[in-house]
Amino acid sequence: MFGIDYPIFSAGMGGIVSPAGPELAGAVSAAGGLGVIGGAFVPPDKLRQQILQLREMTDKPFGVDTLIPFSVTQGNLDAPIKLDVSLPAEHQAFIDQFADKYDLGDLPAADIPIFDPVFIREQLEMILEMDVPVYVAGIGDPGFLIERARAQGLKMKVGVVVGAVRHAQKSLASGVDFIVAQGNDGGGHNSVVGTMALIPQVVDEVAGRVPVLGAGSIMDGRQMVAALALGAQGVWCGSAFLATHEARITQGQKEMLIRTKETGTQLTAGYSGKRARVISSLYSREFEQSGLQALPMHQQLTMTDRVMRAANQQGRVDVNPGVAGQGVGMIREIRPAGDVLRRIASEAVAILERGILPRENADSNV
Ligand SMILES: Cc1cc2nc3c(=O)[nH]c(=O)nc-3n(C[C@H](O)[C@H](O)[C@H](O)COP(=O)(O)O)c2cc1C
Repeated sequence: MFGIDYPIFSAGMGGIVSPAGPELAGAVSAAGGLGVIGGAFVPPDKLRQQILQLREMTDKPFGVDTLIPFSVTQGNLDAPIKLDVSLPAEHQAFIDQFADKYDLGDLPAADIPIFDPVFIREQLEMILEMDVPVYVAGIGDPGFLIERARAQGLKMKVGVVVGAVRHAQKSLASGVDFIVAQGNDGGGHNSVVGTMALIPQVVDEVAGRVPVLGAGSIMDGRQMVAALALGAQGVWCGSAFLATHEARITQGQKEMLIRTKETGTQLTAGYSGKRARVISSLYSREFEQSGLQALPMHQQLTMTDRVMRAANQQGRVDVNPGVAGQGVGMIREIRPAGDVLRRIASEAVAILERGILPRENADSNV
Protein backbone atom coordinates (compact mmCIF):
# COMPACT_ATOMS: atom_id res chain seq x y z
CA MET A 1 0.00 0.00 0.00
CA PHE A 2 2.76 2.48 0.85
CA GLY A 3 5.58 1.05 -1.26
CA ILE A 4 7.89 0.65 1.74
CA ASP A 5 10.08 -2.22 2.96
CA TYR A 6 9.17 -2.10 6.66
CA PRO A 7 5.83 -1.00 8.18
CA ILE A 8 7.62 1.44 10.47
CA PHE A 9 6.70 5.13 10.31
CA SER A 10 8.62 7.91 12.03
CA ALA A 11 5.97 10.16 13.59
CA GLY A 12 5.33 13.65 12.29
CA MET A 13 6.66 15.44 15.34
CA GLY A 14 6.00 19.16 15.20
CA GLY A 15 6.54 22.05 17.58
CA ILE A 16 8.23 25.44 17.82
CA VAL A 17 11.20 23.83 16.10
CA SER A 18 9.78 20.71 14.45
CA PRO A 19 11.97 17.78 15.50
CA ALA A 20 10.85 15.81 12.45
CA GLY A 21 12.28 17.91 9.64
CA PRO A 22 13.26 16.64 6.20
CA GLU A 23 16.60 15.30 7.51
CA LEU A 24 14.87 12.82 9.84
CA ALA A 25 11.96 11.93 7.58
CA GLY A 26 14.27 11.56 4.58
CA ALA A 27 16.67 9.28 6.48
CA VAL A 28 13.83 7.02 7.63
CA SER A 29 12.32 6.81 4.15
CA ALA A 30 15.72 6.19 2.55
CA ALA A 31 16.27 3.29 4.99
CA GLY A 32 13.00 1.61 3.96
CA GLY A 33 10.50 2.94 6.49
CA LEU A 34 8.15 5.87 6.00
CA GLY A 35 9.44 9.18 7.31
CA VAL A 36 6.90 11.87 8.13
CA ILE A 37 7.73 15.58 8.32
CA GLY A 38 6.18 17.34 11.35
CA GLY A 39 4.74 20.32 9.53
CA ALA A 40 2.17 21.61 12.04
CA PHE A 41 3.64 25.07 12.66
CA VAL A 42 5.62 25.41 9.46
CA PRO A 43 4.37 28.11 7.05
CA PRO A 44 3.40 26.72 3.62
CA ASP A 45 6.38 28.17 1.73
CA LYS A 46 8.88 26.77 4.26
CA LEU A 47 7.09 23.41 4.31
CA ARG A 48 7.33 23.30 0.53
CA GLN A 49 11.11 23.84 0.84
CA GLN A 50 11.29 20.98 3.34
CA ILE A 51 9.43 18.67 0.96
CA LEU A 52 11.79 19.62 -1.88
CA GLN A 53 14.78 19.04 0.40
CA LEU A 54 13.49 15.58 1.31
CA ARG A 55 12.90 14.76 -2.36
CA GLU A 56 16.55 15.65 -3.02
CA MET A 57 17.57 13.08 -0.40
CA THR A 58 15.47 10.15 -1.59
CA ASP A 59 12.87 9.18 -4.16
CA LYS A 60 11.19 6.86 -1.63
CA PRO A 61 7.68 7.61 -0.30
CA PHE A 62 7.34 9.94 2.69
CA GLY A 63 4.63 11.81 4.56
CA VAL A 64 3.71 15.21 5.99
CA ASP A 65 1.77 15.68 9.25
CA THR A 66 -0.09 18.83 10.27
CA LEU A 67 -2.80 19.75 12.77
CA ILE A 68 -6.34 20.80 11.85
CA PRO A 69 -7.73 21.83 15.26
CA PHE A 70 -11.51 22.16 15.26
CA SER A 71 -11.15 25.02 17.77
CA VAL A 72 -9.48 26.97 14.95
CA THR A 73 -11.44 25.88 11.90
CA GLN A 74 -14.90 25.30 13.40
CA GLY A 75 -15.11 22.87 10.50
CA ASN A 76 -14.74 25.67 7.97
CA LEU A 77 -11.41 26.37 6.32
CA ASP A 78 -12.67 29.42 4.44
CA ALA A 79 -13.55 31.60 7.40
CA PRO A 80 -10.84 34.24 7.83
CA ILE A 81 -11.07 34.39 11.62
CA LYS A 82 -7.81 34.99 13.42
CA LEU A 83 -8.25 33.92 17.02
CA ASP A 84 -7.46 36.34 19.81
CA VAL A 85 -4.39 35.03 21.60
CA SER A 86 -4.24 37.55 24.43
CA LEU A 87 -3.97 35.98 27.88
CA PRO A 88 -6.09 36.34 31.02
CA ALA A 89 -4.31 38.37 33.72
CA GLU A 90 -3.53 35.39 35.97
CA HIS A 91 -1.94 33.39 33.14
CA GLN A 92 0.11 36.40 32.09
CA ALA A 93 1.20 36.82 35.72
CA PHE A 94 2.17 33.13 35.88
CA ILE A 95 4.61 33.33 32.97
CA ASP A 96 5.98 36.70 34.08
CA GLN A 97 6.69 35.34 37.56
CA PHE A 98 8.07 32.11 36.11
CA ALA A 99 10.46 34.05 33.85
CA ASP A 100 11.57 36.13 36.80
CA LYS A 101 12.07 33.18 39.16
CA TYR A 102 14.15 31.20 36.65
CA ASP A 103 16.09 34.10 35.10
CA LEU A 104 14.64 33.82 31.64
CA GLY A 105 14.76 37.58 31.06
CA ASP A 106 12.15 39.34 28.93
CA LEU A 107 9.97 36.78 27.21
CA PRO A 108 10.03 37.05 23.41
CA ALA A 109 6.79 37.37 21.45
CA ALA A 110 4.97 34.19 20.52
CA ASP A 111 5.07 33.08 16.93
CA ILE A 112 2.50 30.40 16.23
CA PRO A 113 0.74 30.81 12.93
CA ILE A 114 -1.79 27.98 13.02
CA PHE A 115 -4.54 29.92 14.76
CA ASP A 116 -5.91 31.04 11.46
CA PRO A 117 -8.01 28.75 9.26
CA VAL A 118 -6.51 30.38 6.18
CA PHE A 119 -3.01 29.32 7.28
CA ILE A 120 -4.22 25.73 7.69
CA ARG A 121 -5.98 25.75 4.33
CA GLU A 122 -2.88 27.12 2.60
CA GLN A 123 -0.77 24.37 4.17
CA LEU A 124 -3.21 21.73 2.91
CA GLU A 125 -3.39 23.28 -0.56
CA MET A 126 0.38 23.25 -0.82
CA ILE A 127 0.42 19.59 0.27
CA LEU A 128 -2.07 18.80 -2.52
CA GLU A 129 -0.09 20.83 -5.04
CA MET A 130 3.13 19.00 -4.10
CA ASP A 131 1.27 15.67 -4.42
CA VAL A 132 2.78 14.37 -1.19
CA PRO A 133 2.50 10.54 -1.05
CA VAL A 134 1.17 10.40 2.55
CA TYR A 135 -0.62 12.99 4.69
CA VAL A 136 -1.45 12.60 8.39
CA ALA A 137 -3.69 14.83 10.52
CA GLY A 138 -2.30 14.75 14.07
CA ILE A 139 -5.43 16.53 15.30
CA GLY A 140 -8.70 17.09 13.46
CA ASP A 141 -10.60 15.86 10.48
CA PRO A 142 -8.76 15.69 7.14
CA GLY A 143 -12.06 15.49 5.18
CA PHE A 144 -11.25 18.67 3.18
CA LEU A 145 -7.97 17.19 1.98
CA ILE A 146 -9.46 13.78 1.19
CA GLU A 147 -12.20 15.31 -0.96
CA ARG A 148 -9.78 17.52 -2.83
CA ALA A 149 -7.20 14.76 -3.32
CA ARG A 150 -9.83 12.36 -4.70
CA ALA A 151 -11.34 15.05 -6.95
CA GLN A 152 -7.87 15.74 -8.38
CA GLY A 153 -7.21 12.03 -8.91
CA LEU A 154 -4.22 12.03 -6.53
CA LYS A 155 -3.05 8.74 -5.05
CA MET A 156 -2.21 10.43 -1.73
CA LYS A 157 -2.82 8.17 1.29
CA VAL A 158 -4.44 10.07 4.14
CA GLY A 159 -4.29 9.03 7.80
CA VAL A 160 -5.23 10.36 11.22
CA VAL A 161 -3.90 9.91 14.73
CA VAL A 162 -6.67 8.75 17.11
CA GLY A 163 -6.84 8.10 20.83
CA ALA A 164 -10.30 6.54 21.08
CA VAL A 165 -12.57 4.13 19.21
CA ARG A 166 -15.04 6.99 18.61
CA HIS A 167 -12.36 8.97 16.75
CA ALA A 168 -11.58 5.94 14.64
CA GLN A 169 -15.27 5.64 13.68
CA LYS A 170 -15.41 9.31 12.68
CA SER A 171 -12.21 8.99 10.67
CA LEU A 172 -13.54 6.01 8.74
CA ALA A 173 -16.62 8.06 7.90
CA SER A 174 -14.32 10.79 6.52
CA GLY A 175 -12.75 8.20 4.22
CA VAL A 176 -9.23 7.91 5.66
CA ASP A 177 -6.84 5.32 4.20
CA PHE A 178 -5.21 4.38 7.51
CA ILE A 179 -5.44 5.07 11.23
CA VAL A 180 -2.74 5.58 13.84
CA ALA A 181 -3.93 4.42 17.29
CA GLN A 182 -1.79 6.27 19.82
CA GLY A 183 -2.06 5.26 23.47
CA ASN A 184 -1.42 7.13 26.69
CA ASP A 185 2.19 5.90 26.88
CA GLY A 186 3.15 8.02 23.87
CA GLY A 187 4.77 11.43 23.65
CA GLY A 188 2.77 14.54 22.78
CA HIS A 189 -1.03 14.68 22.59
CA ASN A 190 -2.29 11.24 23.38
CA SER A 191 -5.14 9.19 24.72
CA VAL A 192 -6.60 8.52 28.14
CA VAL A 193 -6.27 4.83 27.19
CA GLY A 194 -2.96 2.94 27.40
CA THR A 195 -1.32 1.69 24.22
CA MET A 196 -1.85 -1.99 25.08
CA ALA A 197 -5.59 -1.46 25.64
CA LEU A 198 -6.19 0.99 22.80
CA ILE A 199 -4.68 -0.80 19.81
CA PRO A 200 -6.87 -3.94 19.85
CA GLN A 201 -10.03 -1.94 20.48
CA VAL A 202 -9.35 0.34 17.51
CA VAL A 203 -8.36 -2.70 15.42
CA ASP A 204 -11.66 -4.41 16.26
CA GLU A 205 -13.67 -1.33 15.39
CA VAL A 206 -11.86 -0.82 12.09
CA ALA A 207 -12.39 -4.51 11.29
CA GLY A 208 -9.88 -4.69 8.48
CA ARG A 209 -11.35 -1.81 6.44
CA VAL A 210 -8.09 0.14 6.62
CA PRO A 211 -4.70 -0.64 8.20
CA VAL A 212 -4.03 0.46 11.76
CA LEU A 213 -0.60 1.58 12.96
CA GLY A 214 0.10 1.13 16.67
CA ALA A 215 1.72 4.04 18.51
CA GLY A 216 2.69 5.09 22.01
CA SER A 217 6.11 4.07 23.33
CA ILE A 218 7.03 1.71 20.54
CA MET A 219 10.79 1.86 20.79
CA ASP A 220 12.14 -1.52 19.72
CA GLY A 221 11.38 -4.77 17.94
CA ARG A 222 9.68 -6.34 20.98
CA GLN A 223 7.15 -3.54 21.16
CA MET A 224 6.68 -3.63 17.40
CA VAL A 225 5.86 -7.34 17.52
CA ALA A 226 3.50 -6.67 20.44
CA ALA A 227 1.66 -4.07 18.36
CA LEU A 228 1.43 -6.53 15.46
CA ALA A 229 0.14 -9.19 17.88
CA LEU A 230 -2.55 -6.71 18.98
CA GLY A 231 -3.69 -6.52 15.37
CA ALA A 232 -1.82 -3.46 14.06
CA GLN A 233 -0.30 -3.72 10.59
CA GLY A 234 2.58 -1.41 11.41
CA VAL A 235 3.95 1.06 13.92
CA TRP A 236 4.31 4.83 14.26
CA CYS A 237 7.25 5.79 16.45
CA GLY A 238 8.08 9.25 17.74
CA SER A 239 10.44 9.17 20.72
CA ALA A 240 12.58 6.37 19.23
CA PHE A 241 13.40 8.68 16.31
CA LEU A 242 13.93 11.75 18.51
CA ALA A 243 17.11 10.13 19.80
CA THR A 244 18.82 10.42 16.43
CA HIS A 245 21.44 12.59 14.80
CA GLU A 246 18.85 13.84 12.31
CA ALA A 247 16.17 15.02 14.77
CA ARG A 248 15.97 18.81 15.00
CA ILE A 249 16.32 19.12 18.77
CA THR A 250 19.31 20.52 20.60
CA GLN A 251 22.26 18.44 21.79
CA GLY A 252 21.19 19.28 25.36
CA GLN A 253 17.71 17.88 24.69
CA LYS A 254 19.21 14.73 23.15
CA GLU A 255 21.33 14.22 26.27
CA MET A 256 18.18 14.78 28.34
CA LEU A 257 16.50 11.90 26.50
CA ILE A 258 19.33 9.61 27.60
CA ARG A 259 19.09 10.81 31.22
CA THR A 260 15.29 10.63 31.51
CA LYS A 261 13.87 7.51 33.11
CA GLU A 262 10.54 5.81 32.42
CA THR A 263 8.99 7.82 35.27
CA GLY A 264 10.37 11.12 34.00
CA THR A 265 7.45 12.15 31.83
CA GLN A 266 4.23 13.82 32.88
CA LEU A 267 0.79 14.49 31.47
CA THR A 268 -0.13 18.14 31.34
CA ALA A 269 -2.47 20.43 29.48
CA GLY A 270 -0.05 23.21 30.41
CA TYR A 271 1.81 23.07 27.09
CA SER A 272 -0.95 23.23 24.51
CA GLY A 273 -4.26 23.31 26.34
CA LYS A 274 -4.80 19.66 25.38
CA ARG A 275 -3.44 16.88 27.54
CA ALA A 276 -0.01 15.87 26.32
CA ARG A 277 2.84 13.75 27.62
CA VAL A 278 6.02 15.79 28.02
CA ILE A 279 9.34 15.33 29.77
CA SER A 280 8.71 16.69 33.24
CA SER A 281 10.24 20.17 33.56
CA LEU A 282 10.22 23.25 35.79
CA TYR A 283 7.51 24.64 33.53
CA SER A 284 5.25 21.57 33.46
CA ARG A 285 5.56 21.04 37.22
CA GLU A 286 4.98 24.67 38.15
CA PHE A 287 2.00 24.95 35.84
CA GLU A 288 0.43 21.82 37.36
CA GLN A 289 1.08 23.15 40.87
CA SER A 290 -0.28 26.61 40.05
CA GLY A 291 -3.88 25.44 40.07
CA LEU A 292 -4.48 27.45 36.88
CA GLN A 293 -6.95 26.11 34.36
CA ALA A 294 -5.42 25.31 31.01
CA LEU A 295 -6.68 27.73 28.36
CA PRO A 296 -8.00 26.89 24.89
CA MET A 297 -5.23 25.65 22.61
CA HIS A 298 -4.51 28.97 20.88
CA GLN A 299 -3.98 30.83 24.15
CA GLN A 300 -2.16 28.09 26.05
CA LEU A 301 0.25 27.44 23.18
CA THR A 302 0.93 31.16 22.90
CA MET A 303 1.81 31.26 26.57
CA THR A 304 4.06 28.18 26.35
CA ASP A 305 5.69 29.38 23.15
CA ARG A 306 6.95 32.54 24.82
CA VAL A 307 8.54 30.62 27.70
CA MET A 308 10.00 27.91 25.45
CA ARG A 309 11.52 30.41 23.04
CA ALA A 310 13.25 32.12 25.96
CA ALA A 311 14.42 28.72 27.28
CA ASN A 312 15.74 27.71 23.85
CA GLN A 313 17.65 30.97 23.47
CA GLN A 314 19.46 30.18 26.71
CA GLY A 315 19.83 26.43 26.23
CA ARG A 316 17.70 25.79 29.32
CA VAL A 317 16.75 22.10 29.21
CA ASP A 318 15.49 22.37 32.78
CA VAL A 319 12.70 24.57 31.38
CA ASN A 320 12.37 22.97 27.92
CA PRO A 321 13.62 19.38 27.94
CA GLY A 322 11.14 18.59 25.16
CA VAL A 323 8.43 16.02 24.66
CA ALA A 324 8.70 12.24 24.81
CA GLY A 325 6.76 9.09 25.67
CA GLN A 326 7.27 6.70 28.58
CA GLY A 327 9.59 4.57 26.49
CA VAL A 328 12.18 7.35 26.88
CA GLY A 329 13.79 5.27 29.65
CA MET A 330 14.92 2.84 26.93
CA ILE A 331 16.99 5.46 25.12
CA ARG A 332 20.69 4.79 25.75
CA GLU A 333 22.42 6.57 22.90
CA ILE A 334 21.91 8.92 19.99
CA ARG A 335 22.18 7.07 16.69
CA PRO A 336 21.56 7.66 13.01
CA ALA A 337 17.84 7.34 12.21
CA GLY A 338 18.50 4.63 9.61
CA ASP A 339 20.16 2.50 12.32
CA VAL A 340 17.17 2.97 14.65
CA LEU A 341 14.85 1.81 11.89
CA ARG A 342 16.98 -1.18 10.91
CA ARG A 343 17.36 -2.26 14.53
CA ILE A 344 13.60 -2.16 15.22
CA ALA A 345 13.00 -4.11 12.01
CA SER A 346 15.70 -6.72 12.58
CA GLU A 347 14.69 -7.31 16.21
CA ALA A 348 11.07 -7.73 15.14
CA VAL A 349 12.03 -10.14 12.36
CA ALA A 350 14.20 -12.16 14.77
CA ILE A 351 11.34 -12.46 17.27
CA LEU A 352 8.82 -13.38 14.59
CA GLU A 353 11.16 -15.99 13.09
CA ARG A 354 11.95 -17.73 16.34
CA GLY A 355 8.40 -17.39 17.70
CA ILE A 356 7.40 -15.49 20.82
CA LEU A 357 8.21 -18.32 23.22
CA PRO A 358 11.75 -19.65 23.66
CA ARG A 359 12.20 -22.91 21.70
CA GLU A 360 12.09 -25.30 24.67
CA ASN A 361 8.73 -23.86 25.82
CA ALA A 362 7.31 -23.65 22.32
CA ASP A 363 7.52 -27.44 22.02
CA SER A 364 5.78 -28.11 25.33
CA ASN A 365 2.06 -28.13 25.91
CA VAL A 366 2.14 -25.03 28.13
C1 LIG B 1 8.45 15.86 20.25
C2 LIG B 1 7.11 15.36 19.79
C3 LIG B 1 6.31 16.19 18.99
C4 LIG B 1 5.09 15.71 18.50
N1 LIG B 1 4.34 16.50 17.65
C5 LIG B 1 3.31 15.96 16.98
C6 LIG B 1 2.65 16.66 15.92
O1 LIG B 1 2.98 17.81 15.61
N2 LIG B 1 1.67 16.02 15.24
C7 LIG B 1 1.30 14.73 15.56
O2 LIG B 1 0.47 14.15 14.87
N3 LIG B 1 1.85 14.08 16.60
C8 LIG B 1 2.86 14.64 17.28
N4 LIG B 1 3.48 13.92 18.28
C9 LIG B 1 2.99 12.58 18.60
C10 LIG B 1 3.60 11.57 17.63
O3 LIG B 1 2.98 11.70 16.36
C11 LIG B 1 3.44 10.12 18.07
O4 LIG B 1 2.08 9.76 18.09
C12 LIG B 1 4.09 9.81 19.40
O5 LIG B 1 5.39 10.32 19.42
C13 LIG B 1 4.10 8.31 19.66
O6 LIG B 1 4.59 8.03 20.94
P1 LIG B 1 6.16 7.77 21.24
O7 LIG B 1 6.79 9.12 21.26
O8 LIG B 1 6.15 7.15 22.57
O9 LIG B 1 6.68 6.91 20.15
C14 LIG B 1 4.67 14.40 18.82
C15 LIG B 1 5.45 13.59 19.65
C16 LIG B 1 6.67 14.04 20.13
C17 LIG B 1 7.51 13.10 20.98
